[in-house]
Amino acid sequence: MLNIVIFGAPGSGKGTQSARIVEKYGLNHISTGDVLRAEIAAGTELGKTAKALIDNGQLIPDELMIGILAAKLDSLAGGNGVIFDGFPRTIAQAEELKKMLVARGQDVTAMLELDVPEDELMDRLLKRGQASGRADDNEETIKKRLVVYAEQTAPLKDWYKNEGKHCYINGFGELDRIFEDIVAAIDSRL
Ligand code: AP5
Ligand code: MG
Repeated sequence: MLNIVIFGAPGSGKGTQSARIVEKYGLNHISTGDVLRAEIAAGTELGKTAKALIDNGQLIPDELMIGILAAKLDSLAGGNGVIFDGFPRTIAQAEELKKMLVARGQDVTAMLELDVPEDELMDRLLKRGQASGRADDNEETIKKRLVVYAEQTAPLKDWYKNEGKHCYINGFGELDRIFEDIVAAIDSRL
């Protein structure tokens, strides 16, 4: 089984590159942001809790998020593995993911860090905000998301380095070149 963690700041291209990885490797895609947005759209209790936090650029509490991820993982049938997009975002989540995979006799194959300069991230997200209108794609919320990323999520780079799973990808530039680098990183770990 191939289990890939795609990692990076808001706007780094996790969703964009996940779609290509899914197609090439036949993986299931779990995007925790997409799961939460679906709950918001459906008007569930979880959606209401999530909306207040997402609109303010804050993370959903670990316990809640870990429960959502476990349920999602249990619901999968078939496929060659999973690409985890937007999870883990804290060290507690990374530790839980490891436990969940070990319980299934599996492991994370690679963690791909998409590195993109902050001014480019802001540019991409503001553009998307104008085009499609994700509620958290406005300047004020983007700034908060970037701070939360730096403080709570970026430490996972060292955590995955310690695990021997970290792969650096330059996420700034042409989509095709970035994807080629991703494929090379994944294939080197197969
Ligand atoms: P989530 O949905 O995961 O959002 P995010 O991490 O902020 O990242 P985005 O989805 O905005 O960006 P992306 O990296 O997927 O980039 P994309 O491919 O779209 O999470 C949203 C919120 O949910 C969080 O803030 C949090 O509140 C909550 N949440 C989710 N998971 C959680 C968890 N595990 N724990 C706690 N809370 C959680 O690309 C962005 C734009 O750039 C697009 O318009 C794209 O077309 C463009 N683009 C992509 N690549 C390039 C390129 N190479 N050049 C130019 N443009 C590009
Ligand atoms: Mg995304």
